[in-house]
Amino acid sequence: MTDAAIATPTQATTKYRKDYQPPTHLVDTLELEFDLAEEHTRVRSRMTLRENPARSDAGGELVLDGEALELVSVTVDGEKISDDRYQVGEETLTLTGLPTECVLEIEVVIEPQENTCFEGLYRSGPMFLTQCEAEGFRRITYFLDRPCVMARYTTTIRAERAAYPVLLSNGNLVDSGEDSDGRHWARWEDPFPKPSYLFALVAGDLHLHPGSFTTASGREVELRIYVEHLHADKCEHAMKCVMSAMRWDEETFGLEYDLDLYMIAATDKFNMGAMENKGLNIFNSALVLARPDTATDSDYERIEGVIGHEYFHNWTGNRVTCMDWFQLTLKEGLTVFRDQQFTADMTSHAVKRISDVRMLRAFQFPQDAGPMAHPIRPESYQEMSNFYTSTVYDKGAEVIRMYHTLLGAEGFRKGMDLYFERHDGSAVTCDDFRAAMGDANERDLLQFERWYLQAGTPVLEVEDSYDSETKRRTFTFTQSTPPTPGQDEKLPLHIPIVFGLIGPDGCDLPLRLVGEETAQGTTRTIELFEATQSVTFEDVPEGCVPSYLRGFSAPVELRCERTHGEYAFAMANDSDSFNRWEAGQQFAMELLVGMVEAIGRGEEPVLDPIFIEAWGVVLLDQELDPSLVSLALALPVEPYLSERFEVLDPGHVHEALEAAIVQLAEAHAEALREVRARCSTGEPYSADRESIGRRRLANLCLSYLSKLGEAGDLAACVAQFEGADNMTDSVAALACLSDVAGPEREGAFTSFYERWKDESLVVDKWFSQQAASDLPDTVERLVELVKHPDFTLKNPNRARSVLGVFGMGNAHHFHRVDGAGYRFLTDHLIEMDSLNPQVASRFITPLLKWKSLEPVRRELMRAELERIAAKDDLSKDVREKVSKALA
Ligand code: PHE
Ligand code: ZN
Repeated sequence: MTDAAIATPTQATTKYRKDYQPPTHLVDTLELEFDLAEEHTRVRSRMTLRENPARSDAGGELVLDGEALELVSVTVDGEKISDDRYQVGEETLTLTGLPTECVLEIEVVIEPQENTCFEGLYRSGPMFLTQCEAEGFRRITYFLDRPCVMARYTTTIRAERAAYPVLLSNGNLVDSGEDSDGRHWARWEDPFPKPSYLFALVAGDLHLHPGSFTTASGREVELRIYVEHLHADKCEHAMKCVMSAMRWDEETFGLEYDLDLYMIAATDKFNMGAMENKGLNIFNSALVLARPDTATDSDYERIEGVIGHEYFHNWTGNRVTCMDWFQLTLKEGLTVFRDQQFTADMTSHAVKRISDVRMLRAFQFPQDAGPMAHPIRPESYQEMSNFYTSTVYDKGAEVIRMYHTLLGAEGFRKGMDLYFERHDGSAVTCDDFRAAMGDANERDLLQFERWYLQAGTPVLEVEDSYDSETKRRTFTFTQSTPPTPGQDEKLPLHIPIVFGLIGPDGCDLPLRLVGEETAQGTTRTIELFEATQSVTFEDVPEGCVPSYLRGFSAPVELRCERTHGEYAFAMANDSDSFNRWEAGQQFAMELLVGMVEAIGRGEEPVLDPIFIEAWGVVLLDQELDPSLVSLALALPVEPYLSERFEVLDPGHVHEALEAAIVQLAEAHAEALREVRARCSTGEPYSADRESIGRRRLANLCLSYLSKLGEAGDLAACVAQFEGADNMTDSVAALACLSDVAGPEREGAFTSFYERWKDESLVVDKWFSQQAASDLPDTVERLVELVKHPDFTLKNPNRARSVLGVFGMGNAHHFHRVDGAGYRFLTDHLIEMDSLNPQVASRFITPLLKWKSLEPVRRELMRAELERIAAKDDLSKDVREKVSKALA
């Protein structure tokens, strides 16, 4: 028996996908009873168990998972069992001599108020709540805590009525009543069998924001959002998002909601974004609460995306779930793809696609090239929490998108229909999904499995040759995937290359392959199977510019030779908006790499005038959606650029980016001021798409202008900060001021804090703007800032607002050449690890790629990793990453 409330460090054991074994027992029903109290909580469970026919070797032995539980009693079929028939291990309860079918009852005591890792049952403000994915249920009671064990749950919650008037769990409320001494109870029943990771409980004094939805088949669904009372006026946006997500899934995939009640509860303390528990989603409050004066346009958009995401999990994740955690991308990759399509349909396909690819390159590409690289379906793990990664989620979504590209929207829908027809109500694998897609379309997707097996970002090289006599143009594609830890050799992948040719007049050419009678469209999907493969087109005039991977049709790095003139031509003429943006990005990448190299040689970094001019044309293009313009004007993100160097000097990369920004701002200062003026209409705040686009572009202009150091532009920042009637404009101005030392900066931060000190989520913004600051003494300031009474590692959002933002979003100061940035992060990471290993483990990411750094920083970073490794009670989570990085 153990009563440790936080993660107990254990010897690192590695779990392998190949070792999967079906469970020895199946659980048909599980009745849970919670007695919630401040001191400790009593949990009684009653499960109907039977031996799994698929496991003839069980022999009456059952090993249950359990952590940080105090065992009170065990009975089998109502009888106390003798001591020699059960054994309590560090993380298990082993029972022997069980009949093939029985009722097992277990009582445990847990201490939610001591729980700082926020897995299992814990406290946040006025409430008790749970988080069970991936392996948190075992902190609530002993159970077969694995996703392939699906049971029907009935949950009874007892608590003091005054403090906890609201008692919630999955499914439908079936009964409730009063106990003596001011306590009451509620009983919930979930008719759908589910894995333990989807269990949820919420109890507290909460505000209810109601809504309702009529499904396509005419059923009424009651919608409820629960928040702390002070947030009663920040729920309307989230409620609208729920309704549009429900409608969208009916229209796009024919999927209806399946219970009569759908609830969301928001908490200030949450390790992740949100959780799709059946019928009772639990959300980080940052992804629910929104009012124009407290949340930015990006917050509004993220809320829509995440509300959609969790709702869509009801089918992709809950109705059909994962056989084991190696299959995580089965539900996450697919659900991210679904939420991306949803957002694209609600907003703009081009804007959404570009933003997603930008993020993929900023987070996933670096991960795929580092010590934690893993396939979207990992082969092994030490701590599952470490595999909720951009690779599993975002590259996973790219893989799903490729099915969509290869099969078309209709074929994809057929595949989804077959997937649900075959697997509704069960726990399956990524192979089952691939089989459904293939079978529904009579396509062989055998080779496609390699996307699930191989880590690393594939590189796609193109060579092309032209015969002016025959007017044939041949493109030769060569693919290769770099080695990643444990995978030296890679096999060729099945890659869809959505392709077009832009004629000299700027119009797309009809495409005719050798051997075809007639041209077949202007955009065609070339399917690559081999390491090297060629295609030849007929009737190609001189001077065409190819357009590869339209819409970013595969998550690969493209390498092809282009002249600056061709980049500029594609920026202006490609019919694919993604590739118009991409031409600008790749042009900028090439130039920035050159500038970084120039800095390395001690030369001035100078931006090519052709680029400066083309950039100016986009800036003034009034035909384009201003959100698209903003994306086109933004330079490539630092981590993506950094990937281009074998030996990285982050100082040089930063200097090159800054030089490019200043040169663009100087060349177009007047235009930037003009465009900003045109976009700042002075009308009161409105949340429609056009206004959002205008605010985005105006604030982008402001951020370029603020780099010029002109008094007038600084005054404009101050004026915007003081006059803003919405958080988007307010925080954009604050971000600009944050980089400029002086009374304006200090004044703005002081007044921002004074105005918002009671709104925790806005205070997070106040912290994060300081963590992202570019003032020369940023690290010293942060050392002081974390002494602020509002700073605490016990709130993950607050910890992220400083440590996450500093590590992932302030490369310049993080990589300070004296190591002060690394030290600052490490100090707090070590402290965080003792409280909340999951979140601490995310903070370590920027320290992992020390091997690619120039020698001075390389040694400094390694020293910090070793300092972490030396912590004796280090969590499994951080241990796994540190040891992989140092290996
Ligand atoms: N399953 C959640 C999602 O993607 C993420 C999550 C994982 C939340 C683990 C909490 C813990 O929607
Ligand atoms: Zn998810």
